[in-house]
Amino acid sequence: MPALTKKFTLTDLRAARASGMKVPMLTCYDFTFARLMHRVGVPTILVGDSAGNVVLGHENTLPVPLHFMIQLTAAVRRGAPNALLVADMPFGSYHGSVGRAVRNVFRMVQLSACDCVKMEAAQTQLAAIRELSDAGVAIMAHLGLRPQAVGVLGGYRAQGRTAEEAMRIIDLAVAMQEAGAASILLEAVPAEVSAAVVEATSVPVIGCGAGPACHGHVVVTHDILGLTEHPPKFAPPMGDAATPLTDTFVRYIDQIGSGAYPTAEHGYGMPTSEKVKLAEILRKHPLPAPAEAK
Ligand code: KIV
Repeated sequence: MPALTKKFTLTDLRAARASGMKVPMLTCYDFTFARLMHRVGVPTILVGDSAGNVVLGHENTLPVPLHFMIQLTAAVRRGAPNALLVADMPFGSYHGSVGRAVRNVFRMVQLSACDCVKMEAAQTQLAAIRELSDAGVAIMAHLGLRPQAVGVLGGYRAQGRTAEEAMRIIDLAVAMQEAGAASILLEAVPAEVSAAVVEATSVPVIGCGAGPACHGHVVVTHDILGLTEHPPKFAPPMGDAATPLTDTFVRYIDQIGSGAYPTAEHGYGMPTSEKVKLAEILRKHPLPAPAEAK
């Protein structure tokens, strides 16, 4: 796959919905991975607050601060300049009042150069989504399993598995679109629910363990790379990045231990004349004995 030569935009995402072309989206949290994704033309990237798990090692996403998400998103932007870049608003950053949500979303957009902002969506966010979309911000409304609501959900489990719950998600998706959301993200819902959301809305729907009807699909990159211990069943490892990485760490440890690394070829040279001068200085001014380490 070649690098993207021009920017993938929301218009391209909408066109994909219309044409039936499925759009891949991956999560990304740093410049280095973003550059690799850019190199192979990943069209859409989410800087997810799953960074709280895979980068920071927390059990859930709740401790992730806004300034951290802004920094990560800006780094990914530098690595993947042409991807449609979606920034996740972390827990607590868009709650309290519409004004606060709007201020924090503006901060994210201005400081990270993202193209779209994702918010885990409940009825209470409708007013903020209306205000933000009026201001020209592209919002992706995240429905279904909302990891930031793990407290009330009582754990991570699929949503919309009863007809009543499914209807709540479908109705909320329609309400989000009416409020101005530019896209919907559905996490961990049955295929019937995503099919109904696709039918009831006209914006692109991205699935995350949400069945084939969605217009695009996102997974946590570390899951498909085989880097997480318990990936969800909808994101099976598609490669084994852990083995070459750990093999390299072991090789490094071995080479330091054996003295195979570093050698002269890894170091910086000094002109012979300077070496002679240094030796002369050290001869005339011997170094003091080292102080005892404290
Ligand atoms: O934070 C995240 O990575 C997400 C996706 C899994 C949808 O929200």
